[in-house]
Amino acid sequence: MAIASIWISLGCMYLLLTWCNNAIEAKRSSQTGCKLSYRFADCRFLQLVSVPRDLPNDIEELLLDFNQIQSISKTSLSLYPDLKSLSLQSNGLELIEPDAFQGAIRIESLSLQNNNIAAEYSKTSEALLYTPSLKNLDLSTNGLKMHMVTSLLGNMRTLENLCLDHNIIMHLDDTVFAGLRELKQLSVQWNYIYEVESGTFDHLIKLKTLNLAFNSLPCILDFGLTQLRTLNLSFNQLEWFQSRELDKEFSLELLDISHNQLLFFPLLPRVHHIHTLLLSDNRMRFYSELFDTDSSYVNFTIMENNSTNTTAINVWEEEIKSDLSTLQFLDMSRNQFTYLPEEFIVKMISLIQLKLDWNCLDTFSLSHLRGSNSLIELDLSYNRISELLMDDTPSFSSLHYFNMSRNNLQTLPKHMFNDMKGLRTLDLSHNRLSLCCKQVGAARSDDNNCVDMRPLTSLKNLYLSGCGLVLDAHCILDGTTLTHLDLSENHVKDLSPLQDTCRTLHFLSLRNSLPYNLSLDFSSYQNLRYLDLAENNLTNFPTSLIELSLQSLDLRQNNFTSLPLYNTYHGLLRTLNVLYLSKNPFECCELSWLNVLKESSSINIPDLPQVSCNFSNHFMLVQRLPESIPHSCLWKTGDVLLYLLLILPICVTFLVALLLMFLTFREIILQKLKRRCRRSTSY
Ligand SMILES: *[C@@H]1O[C@H](CO)[C@@H](O)[C@H](O)[C@H]1NC(C)=O
Ligand SMILES: *[C@@H]1O[C@H](CO)[C@@H](O)[C@H](O)[C@H]1NC(C)=O
Ligand SMILES: *[C@@H]1O[C@H](CO)[C@@H](O)[C@H](O)[C@H]1NC(C)=O
Ligand SMILES: *[C@@H]1O[C@H](CO)[C@@H](O)[C@H](O)[C@H]1NC(C)=O
Ligand SMILES: *[C@@H]1O[C@H](CO)[C@@H](O)[C@H](O)[C@H]1NC(C)=O
Ligand SMILES: *[C@@H]1O[C@H](CO)[C@@H](O)[C@H](O)[C@H]1NC(C)=O
Ligand SMILES: *[C@@H]1O[C@H](CO)[C@@H](O)[C@H](O)[C@H]1NC(C)=O
Ligand SMILES: *[C@@H]1O[C@H](CO)[C@@H](O)[C@H](O)[C@H]1NC(C)=O
Ligand SMILES: *[C@@H]1O[C@H](CO)[C@@H](O)[C@H](O)[C@H]1NC(C)=O
Ligand SMILES: *[C@@H]1O[C@H](CO)[C@@H](O)[C@H](O)[C@H]1NC(C)=O
Repeated sequence: MAIASIWISLGCMYLLLTWCNNAIEAKRSSQTGCKLSYRFADCRFLQLVSVPRDLPNDIEELLLDFNQIQSISKTSLSLYPDLKSLSLQSNGLELIEPDAFQGAIRIESLSLQNNNIAAEYSKTSEALLYTPSLKNLDLSTNGLKMHMVTSLLGNMRTLENLCLDHNIIMHLDDTVFAGLRELKQLSVQWNYIYEVESGTFDHLIKLKTLNLAFNSLPCILDFGLTQLRTLNLSFNQLEWFQSRELDKEFSLELLDISHNQLLFFPLLPRVHHIHTLLLSDNRMRFYSELFDTDSSYVNFTIMENNSTNTTAINVWEEEIKSDLSTLQFLDMSRNQFTYLPEEFIVKMISLIQLKLDWNCLDTFSLSHLRGSNSLIELDLSYNRISELLMDDTPSFSSLHYFNMSRNNLQTLPKHMFNDMKGLRTLDLSHNRLSLCCKQVGAARSDDNNCVDMRPLTSLKNLYLSGCGLVLDAHCILDGTTLTHLDLSENHVKDLSPLQDTCRTLHFLSLRNSLPYNLSLDFSSYQNLRYLDLAENNLTNFPTSLIELSLQSLDLRQNNFTSLPLYNTYHGLLRTLNVLYLSKNPFECCELSWLNVLKESSSINIPDLPQVSCNFSNHFMLVQRLPESIPHSCLWKTGDVLLYLLLILPICVTFLVALLLMFLTFREIILQKLKRRCRRSTSY
């Protein structure tokens, strides 16, 4: 029995040892310095001038990026017949000899990114004829023009992913991608394409993703690629996007035309699957308001082959034809919309996110969203909305985020928040609003126009910066359990309206909103982590802060002469990470608190170089305080020393006078002394 168990454990040890040996082998290097693991060689950054010949013959993946291999010959690769993936990024590669891949015909992925393939492209084209399994090809950053690409892609029946980014292609015609029947993804970003001839992509029947971002396309006239799922046309100069009039179903799901010059909402296919439509940073608006509704025709002049074709298009009619019911994410921010026709949004019944920020909307009707029961995010910031309309009561039960900052709102529809029970983030900053207040004595005149937060029971983040609010003891914020509250740039006369929510608050900004003499008590703000008290001219530091567990505190631009910090045991100093202090008239002779702060190594004072202090009305930077100042402070502050200072000159004068007297009357005194001595000796 015992023997058997010894044998078994010996067996296990042997197994372990051999396994270890394998593991060590898996991490070894070749003579040329390549790191080897199972069928994989990493030879990057080795200043190689040719493909190393000392690698195991069975490698499947070889990385040769960032070397100096300028050409690939037949013999280079024939040693590695199993090679499936080869990367030659950034080598200054110019030539792949025609027979180079004959010994490595299993190759599936080839990256030639950032080389100079343009130099000998016709020979390289011949070489690429012998890659019958190639699926992924990266030719980005190679100085290629269209005819070179046509030549290089001559026989790529198996290619699935092709990247041609950062070349100098200006034009695409139907010969370029002619044979690529398996192509699924094509990226031609960062070229100079101003023209795509019709038919260029038609026979790429498996194409799913096409990225033409960062080119110079002026318009898309006849978009008919029903097979495509994702089309990226961002950062071009498109003024017009029009789909072919087909009753066929388009597979399109994501369309990005952001950062163009679009003047109209794109004319989408009639039947499609678009869920994400990105149209930000264009010049779109609706025009029918400029004419009467019947004449919303716009004459379009299309130039083609020197002949002009003027087409009158009823912009609004076309709009209605395309189905918008599948849209989930619609970004129309940074355009020029002055209004939205009612039917436009009502049809978007699947909307999840609607971004209309940075437009020129004067009014917005929330009733338009009555169909969008699943809306989660609505952004109307940076418009000039003075009136928010709500006729009926649409359901906003799923709305989480509502941004109306930077508008001209003075009032909100009554009961607007009643049906926003799920709202978590509300940004009303930079409008002219007032909060509802409790009636005291005479009813307040503005009670009808006030904003009542009480229905928003799930609200967590509330932004009310710069609303001209007057917050006094009667205002109502109770019932809310906010974690983030921005009351900056208002007139906060009293913090008592926060007494309900102060326990949950995590972030509070009271920047530029407090009277200088308000005494603040933060002792019940136990969860507060970020506090901004800047720009308030406060003279008295709220001592209750010292025991809070703040992480960030901003005290800039107040009237503090000193901070009551005497030792590093305060709760505040244990948690604080960031503290801003500049623009306070600190007293130079009372800077011991600064040393206390510096002792707590976790505290960062980003504006320390700007912190200055007052020494007899001279302001100097605390970091460059002259050596003499602390000494002067000793005299200035120490009372005993001051007395000494006053008494010293008197003492010195007295002593000098005594000395002079002594010197003048020295003879006489000496004689007198001698006489006395003689007498005494006679004694
Ligand atoms: C479209 O391409 C641009 C540029 O590469 C990129 O920033 C953007 O995210 C792409 N859009 C989508 C939806 O992926
Ligand atoms: C459009 O062109 C037609 C003639 O082709 C003209 O009658 C009509 O007034 C034009 N419309 C506008 C809005 O310019
Ligand atoms: C443009 O002209 C070329 C020849 O000049 C012709 O082959 C092509 O069909 C023309 N295209 C259109 C849309 O008329
Ligand atoms: C277009 O017109 C210009 C002169 O107006 C002429 O020089 C040019 O050859 C024409 N191009 C085509 C494709 O017809
Ligand atoms: C002008 O364009 C319209 C629509 O694109 C087309 O139906 C019409 O045949 C074109 N006319 C000419 C003269 O090319
Ligand atoms: C609201 O929108 C403005 C401007 O677009 C932005 O600066 C602000 O951060 C947004 N508010 C929130 C809470 O995201
Ligand atoms: C603050 O000063 C103003 C006058 O500047 C005064 O009316 C007010 O009562 C003072 N408040 C406190 C709390 O001392
Ligand atoms: C602080 O004082 C400055 C200058 O006296 C004044 O301009 C500023 O409005 C004051 N700030 C507050 C919040 O009272
Ligand atoms: C700062 O406080 C001093 C009194 O300590 C006062 O005289 C001065 O006016 C205050 N400065 C500001 C800007 O409030
Ligand atoms: C600077 O300190 C002196 C006393 O040393 C004081 O009289 C003066 O008001 C202070 N100046 C300011 C701006 O706080």
